[in-house]
Parts: sequence; structure tokens; C-alpha cells
Amino acid sequence: MTAPGVPARLENDTLLRALAREATPYTPLWLMRQAGRYLPEYNATRARAGDFLTLAKTPALATEVTLQPLDRFPLDAAILFSDILTIPDAMGLGLAFAAGEGPRFAHPLRDEAAVARLAAPDPSRELRYVLDAVREIRRALGGRVPLIGFSGSPYTLACYMVEGSGSSDWQTLKTMLYARPDLLQRILSVNAQAVTDYLNAQIEAGAQAVMIFDTWGGTLSHAGYETFSLVYTRKVIGALRKQAEGRQVPCILFTKGGGQWLEAMAASGADALGLDWTTDPRDARRRVGAGVALQGNLDPMTLMAPPAVVRAQARQVLDAFGPAPGHVFNLGHGISQFTAPDTVAELVDEVRTYSTKLRGGR
Ligand code: CP3
Repeated sequence: MTAPGVPARLENDTLLRALAREATPYTPLWLMRQAGRYLPEYNATRARAGDFLTLAKTPALATEVTLQPLDRFPLDAAILFSDILTIPDAMGLGLAFAAGEGPRFAHPLRDEAAVARLAAPDPSRELRYVLDAVREIRRALGGRVPLIGFSGSPYTLACYMVEGSGSSDWQTLKTMLYARPDLLQRILSVNAQAVTDYLNAQIEAGAQAVMIFDTWGGTLSHAGYETFSLVYTRKVIGALRKQAEGRQVPCILFTKGGGQWLEAMAASGADALGLDWTTDPRDARRRVGAGVALQGNLDPMTLMAPPAVVRAQARQVLDAFGPAPGHVFNLGHGISQFTAPDTVAELVDEVRTYSTKLRGGR
């Protein structure tokens, strides 16, 4: 059943069809971090909110910025405006974003007692603002395009929870991983439960697809990726609600730097894999077969180049994925805050025009 005020029918369901590997008249497109600082209207709303966390925690404002990129460009999906760090924030780790510095936790997990106390939050209480935003965005979208919900992976969340901030080498986290793997395993188990509950709550509130960001999975050793990341992500995916509103709710798994583990990722139960720009789409398709959709993978820095170059690079990506169903165009990682919105308009236009031809239309 659809929530009150939400139309049952999607006007544009190309994203959901491509994720189900069904034919579409063109390749659907959305951009990681499509609502963000490269848009002047985003910066204006954030200034009104005061800071990023207040923006994310105020459903009316989160709704406003979620829709901003869609009002500018003919994108094929909306993504919930929030952050992966809402879970550790709800666990009481004390999240703050210092201006220009990135996230910082006041109480990172540094000892046995803190790890023992850790518990999965109840999304309907501590993360209620996220669910309220999902419901409000669905109403505001009015069935234009599907809404993607998301979470960090258990491992990527643990990176920030132990380190207390971003890091170039994750020294504190890696010290725990090698010296006290039992502590990290306990954190990862709690995170897997938290991510499962959180994504299922987003689906119940109206998310029509979900994406798991394993941004730091690629920093693990080959053996460590299976043991500390994929095992837990698999558990999450296996426990996700698969249907809502009479439709499949696909799950996209993105591991930055995960190109060497695509076969294992494809066997995780994910419906689609996000590829970063270091992965060759032809090779990826050969390795995973036709069983999953693929999303990606233009280098976000391509968008710093003149429009003709951006258009040529976009065609190269589309050619590499080929005309077979099951490609969702995206960047290989989040869009840079220094991207010119006009360049994004050129990209969106080229992907629509060229992919229509590629798929046999005109
Ligand atoms: O894609 C979207 O438009 C939805 C919104 C979204 C944000 N963060 C908003 C945001 C999503 C999907 C995320 C996910 C996220 N957050 C990830 C995984 C994806 C990735 O980029 O790898 C990670 C690792 C984070 C953690 C995080 N949040 C960092 C490291 C930072 C600071 C670095 C930066 O880019 O500024 C944030 C802040 C953040 N999250 C911003 C936005 C728009 C910028 C904050 C601001 O407006 O000042």
C-alpha cells in the first residue's frame, strides 16, 4: 500500500527497470552526491539551515535539497539527502562536521567497554528524522522518479567509528583489526544489525531502491575484504525487504576500489554493483555475467574538462557498458564541489541522446 499523498504509479521508472536488467529506451542516469555543494541553491539552503547536520536533520529542508538537482536536470532518480554517519550519530558517538574539515566523532570506539556498550539504534526513534524525510520526499516527488535510500556498509561505518574521523591510512582502525579482531568483529555485528534495520525502515517509509556505500572496503587486504566487509554486507542484503508497493526493491552495492572482488560482490545477493572509474566495464560484465546490473563509472574529475571532452568521455563509458540492458549511468564516485552545474547539464544531455541511439532509438 502506498502512503497517503503518494501516487501509486511512477512516471519514470527507467532506473528500476535497468536495475532489474529490463530494456529501457535510454540509459537512466543519476549522480552520486547530486544534491551538494556544486549547486548554488544547495549552498543557499545549507546557509539557511546553519550547518550540514541541521540540514540533514530537518525533513522539510532535506526534501528541498533532494529535489534541487531534479529541478535543474532530467535525472532518473532522487537520492535521499542524508549521510552515512547518521547511524553512528544515533549510537551516541557525537557526530560533528567542522567547517571545511569533514566528520569528527567526540566519542570514537577506543576501548573494550565502549565496544561492549555499543547497540543498534531503533530507527523509528533515533533516526525518525530520516524516515520523516523519506516520506516527505516521496510526497514532494509525486511519482516523478524513484527515490533511492542508502546506508554505509558495516565496515565503512566502523572505519569512522573507530578512527573518529576520516583518514588517509586508517591507522587506528587497522591497529584494532590486526591486534584485536574480536573487538572489530563485535562492532561489525552490531553495525550489520543497525544497517539492516535502517534500510528496512527506509524501505517501509518509501525508499524504492537502496544503495550500500562501502567507500573504504577497498583499503582492506584481499583476505580482509571478505572477512571484515563482505561477510557483514552479505548478511545485511540477505535480511533486506525485497518488495514494497508491489514492486521489487533493488539493492546496489558500491565498493570503492573493489574492482578485483566483483565476482564475490555479485554473489552477495546485490541486484546491482556500483563501479568506480578504475574498473573496465567490459571486463566487469564478462566477469559477473548477466545476473546483476552495473552502475557507473565516469571519473568525476572528467567534469573539470570542457563540454566536448565530457561528452566524448560519456560516450566512451556508454560504449564500454554496451547496449545490453542493465546499465545505470553514474559517476565512479561523488561529484566534486568544484563542478560547474552547466557541465552537468551537458553530461546529462549527452547520456540521454547517445544512449537513446545506442539502444536503437533516435
Ligand atoms: O548523493 C547524494 O546527493 C545524497 C547525499 C549524501 C551525502 N553523503 C551528503 C553529504 C550521501 C549519499 C552521502 C554518503 C556519504 N557520506 C559517504 C559515502 C559515499 C562516498 O562519498 O563515498 C561518506 C563516506 C560520507 C561521509 C561524509 N559526509 C564525509 C567524509 C563528508 C565530508 C567530506 C565532504 O565531501 O565534504 C560528509 C559531508 C557531506 N555529506 C556533504 C554532503 C552534501 C558535504 C557537507 C556540506 O554540505 O558541508
